Amino acid sequence: MSATNLIDGRAIAEQLHSETSGRVEKLKLRGIIPKLVFVRVGEDPASRVYVGMKEKTSQRLGIDSITRVLPEATSQAELLELIGKLNSDSSVHGILVQAPLPRHIDSPTIYAAVSARKDVDGFHPLNVGKLMLGDTDGFLPCTPGGVHELLIRTGVPISGAEVVVLGRGNIVGKPMAAILIQKTKHANATVTVCHSGTRDIAKHCQRADILIAALGSPEFVKAEMVKEGAVVIDVGVNRVSDPAAKGGSRLVGDVDFKAVQPKCKWITPNPGGVGPMTIAVLMQNTVRAAELLN
Ligand code: GUN
Repeated sequence: MSATNLIDGRAIAEQLHSETSGRVEKLKLRGIIPKLVFVRVGEDPASRVYVGMKEKTSQRLGIDSITRVLPEATSQAELLELIGKLNSDSSVHGILVQAPLPRHIDSPTIYAAVSARKDVDGFHPLNVGKLMLGDTDGFLPCTPGGVHELLIRTGVPISGAEVVVLGRGNIVGKPMAAILIQKTKHANATVTVCHSGTRDIAKHCQRADILIAALGSPEFVKAEMVKEGAVVIDVGVNRVSDPAAKGGSRLVGDVDFKAVQPKCKWITPNPGGVGPMTIAVLMQNTVRAAELLN
């Protein structure tokens, strides 16, 4: 198969953005400007880039956004105090506390403190629970929500498919599996979640009609692990050292793209696959929060 098997995440994200902008316009006619507040603790370089990209997209879609940057030494109590203020500020519709947080802060406590109605990340236990229960009232976490939209809008058959998810993290792997096992039209898949305790990961991967790599291991998925005609989604973002690259390092995904691409029915490029979709779902969630809170 050729370059025509690429899933253009940027183009699909733009489709979502145009739907989202329409909803922003409708809110504006009612005098409501959706507002999203990013909270970043410390100066993790990747988090700075991600939050910067999310903020830029918010502004392009007419969503008011600000970033509150707190020093690395911020205590948990101080962070909770800021979240409490944002929860009770009626001009704020969405709150996103960028992960990872410094080690002295307990992330689950922080995510549980964000009002579930402003939890545009879908990390609050109430929203996680709703996802498990198949209750669509909650907020979907952005990356797995974005992968789901990519599959749907590419026309990939999901119902009855063998899906293998690599990685069991709370941000991608677990919610991804929860989305795809629901008994609904665009889900209803047979999902296997592989992780560091899995015996013979390659054998599971070879069975997959849809292989979703979100384990955070550079170019882990090799050609021999992929079935001919499979759909491969690469969620990974890994910085690897490369003396020949600018700055001595470069970013690679969890999939050995060059080797795997020829075997695929569809594959996401990286960058330009999942990343833009994460942002698109965040924008959708923010507008939904503003609609529901007003
Ligand atoms: N860090 C990596 N992905 C995410 C995400 O989706 N949300 C937040 N808040 N932090 C992240």
